[in-house]
Formats: sequence, C-alpha cells, structure tokens
Amino acid sequence: MEKLVIEGGIPLEGEVVISGAKNAVLPLLAATLLADGNMTIRNVPRLRDVNTTVKLLQGMGVTVGVDDDNNITTNTETINSYVAPYDLVKTMRASILVLGPTLARYGEVEVSLPGGCAIGSRPVNIHLSGLEAMGADITVHEGFIRAKAERLQGARIVMDKVTVTGTENLLMAAVLAEGTTILENAACEPEVTDLANCLNKMGASIIGAGTPTIVIQGVDRLQGVDYTVLPDRIETGTFLAAAAITGGRVRALKAAPDTLDAVLQKFRDAGAKIEIGEDWIELDMRGRTLKSVDITTDPYPGFPTDMQAQLMAMNCCAQGIGVVVETIFENRMMHVAELIRMGANIRLEGNTAIVAGMPTIYGAPVMATDLRASASLIMAGLVAQGKTIVDRIYHTDRGYEKIEVRLQKLGAQIKRIS
Ligand code: UD1
Repeated sequence: MEKLVIEGGIPLEGEVVISGAKNAVLPLLAATLLADGNMTIRNVPRLRDVNTTVKLLQGMGVTVGVDDDNNITTNTETINSYVAPYDLVKTMRASILVLGPTLARYGEVEVSLPGGCAIGSRPVNIHLSGLEAMGADITVHEGFIRAKAERLQGARIVMDKVTVTGTENLLMAAVLAEGTTILENAACEPEVTDLANCLNKMGASIIGAGTPTIVIQGVDRLQGVDYTVLPDRIETGTFLAAAAITGGRVRALKAAPDTLDAVLQKFRDAGAKIEIGEDWIELDMRGRTLKSVDITTDPYPGFPTDMQAQLMAMNCCAQGIGVVVETIFENRMMHVAELIRMGANIRLEGNTAIVAGMPTIYGAPVMATDLRASASLIMAGLVAQGKTIVDRIYHTDRGYEKIEVRLQKLGAQIKRIS
C-alpha cells in the first residue's frame, strides 16, 4: 500500500494550478447520460473517483473516450444497461448520481444502495422520496434501489435537509420530466450551479440554481455539449491552508475566488494576508502569527465540512484556542485521534473539538481515515518536527491530483513510497 513520507518544517512558497472540481465533475459525468450525441467535459481532474465514474458509465454501455489532457467525451447511443453495481457504488457513494438521469431518460434504473461510510451513515432517503414525488415507482430490495417511471412528472419537492447530491439527482431527473418541478431547500453549492449551467447549455430550462429554490421546466430532450468544469474550491482551500500552516506564501491559479468567501474569511481571521485576482488567490503568512479560529460547518455559503479537517490542523499549531463544530456529518472527527498522535492538544466532545494550539507538533506514523482527514494529516506533517508517514493515501487520491508532486513544487519535502 502506498504512503506519503513528509519531512516537516519548510514554509511553502510558489504557485499551484488548481484542478477542476471533483464534486462538480462527478454530477457532470452523470449528466452525460441525458445527452443526445457526443458530450465533452473539460478540465477534468485525474482522480480515482473520476476513473470510477468512467467505469460506471462504460459498464452501462456508454462509449467513453479520454484524451491526453483528460478531457472526457461520451456518447449514450450504445447504452445497454441501467445498473450501477455494488462493486463500484461501494468504492464511491457518488455513484448514486446516475439514479436521477437514468430514470428520467430511460424509464428504469437499478443502483446498489450505498452503505454507511467512514464519516457517517449518509442515507439517500431524500433522493428517493423526491423521485417518488415525481411519480417514480421505487423499491429497495436485496441491497438495490430499483426505480421505474413511464415519464416523470413535475412536482413541488421540499427537501427535508440540504443535500448536495440529492439536489443534483432531482435536478437531473426534473429536466426531462413533464411540467414544472420546484425544488425547495435546495443545496446552494457552486457545484450544483455548475451542473445547472451545463444542463441549461444542453437545452434544459432551470432558474434559481445557487439559491434554495430551483425551478425546472421539463423538456423533451437534451443535446450533448462541450463544458468546462469549475475550479475545485476545496483543493484551493487545502493548498492555501498548507501555506498558512507552514508560514509560507502560495498563489492558487485558475481558482474561483467567489466560491470561497467563508474559507477566506477564516484565513484572514487566522492572521493571513489574502490577495484576490479574477481567477487567483494568494495567501501570505510570512512573518505573521497563526491564530486559532472557531469554525462551525454549514451548507454553502457557510463554512464547508470538506475544509473542517484542514482548518483543524491549522488550529493545532496556532496561537490560542479554537472550537470546531461539525454539523453536517455525525462521524467526521476521526482525524482528531491521529492529530493527537502528532502532539496536538484536542479535546473532543461529540462533534465539537476544542483545539489548544501548540508551539510544536511532531512527526509520527498516522493513518488516513477519509479524503479530507488525509489532507489534514498531510498538512500537519508539513509543519511537524521530524518525519510523518501517512498511510492509506488511497483516500487522498480520490480527491487530490498528484498532491505530493504539487507540494514538492512548492518546496515541501514529501514523497510517495510503496
Ligand atoms: C456532498 C459532497 C461531499 C460533501 C457533502 C456536504 C459530492 C460528491 N460530495 O456529499 O464532499 O462533504 O456534500 O457538503 O458532492 N442526508 C440525508 N438524507 C439524504 C441525503 C443526505 O439525511 O437523502 C444527510 C446526510 O447524511 C448528511 C447531510 O444530509 O448529514 C448532507 O449530506 P449531502 O449533502 O447529501 O452529502 P453528499 O451529497 O453525499
């Protein structure tokens, strides 16, 4: 199994080009199931989750081409199966995103029921009840969701909780439904807006994406288009946090500054100097004191749960006490025990972590438990005294493209070993 070995203590310095957003490209690839003709997605990050989605589409019979720049072209003319098997769904819960578009276009679909995952139980009840409200006949049997519908009907759906992939699934179902669908309490994440922009380019009629009320007028068909994925705000935030924790200066290029307001405010509160251009963000921590910040995760535009672990790592080495409250997932504090192994001073009470910053943390062998937890351990390793070995970095590869190569370019002493 591969590991990352990090020698800490070097302030990061330089520029990093941000990849396309993982959480945007997965729904966009699912949306290709709705397209007549060829559809091309550009700025696709080289990630395990993208490979899994490509396998899923190919398993359904979709023709998928990937060029040298990792642009992905699909054609659904060859589709011959409407099944998302357990083998793929168990490695990537976002496989559930094929449910809405496949049902809407082909009238039937079977998706293995995603189980719990490391960060929580993560049910899909809101995806299912929304599709039922649109007239789908759904059964859950022997670990599979089976859905059928002649043609979905527009409906007003009030979602019980804000769910990102739930909103995306219902959006992709509603675009081909008969009549008008109104999604209330919809997720406002930029990745939902990116999906809606792409669907509109394909011929859909969606207004209100990026707000809690999305109105979709169903259409009969959608055309394949050429679409470029928006920059990854979580990757951007992670590299900037790495600059902050090491007391360095990093400029993130090809970023989307307007998707990171809550995170950038926390960096400023932590004492960093932030400069913003049209498509870049620079964080400068040189000669400044890192201060602890309080964080409560919330749906967008609140502070993202996907940045919680990285900011927790920052707090471990900052001046003062920071309180970190996780409100989205019930079990997203597993990095705490690993950070404590590195000398961090954290008290965990349920989903609240009280972090007292330490002048020094120390390298240690640690284990990544999920994608963002792995990022927080890498960041802690970058500032720790001595050697950190991060195990189970297959989690990291799900969401960060060649992270060690890009950190090396910023001066970090980090390498991948088998
Ligand atoms: C997406 C992101 C993930 C991010 C999360 C929250 C993708 C591929 N993944 O995950 O990186 O951490 O949003 O921003 O975009 N819930 C229910 N019933 C449902 C659906 C969700 O109770 O039917 C609950 C979940 O258990 C969780 C909360 O709603 O407590 C939010 O989850 P959700 O937004 O659905 O997360 P994902 O879309 O899976």
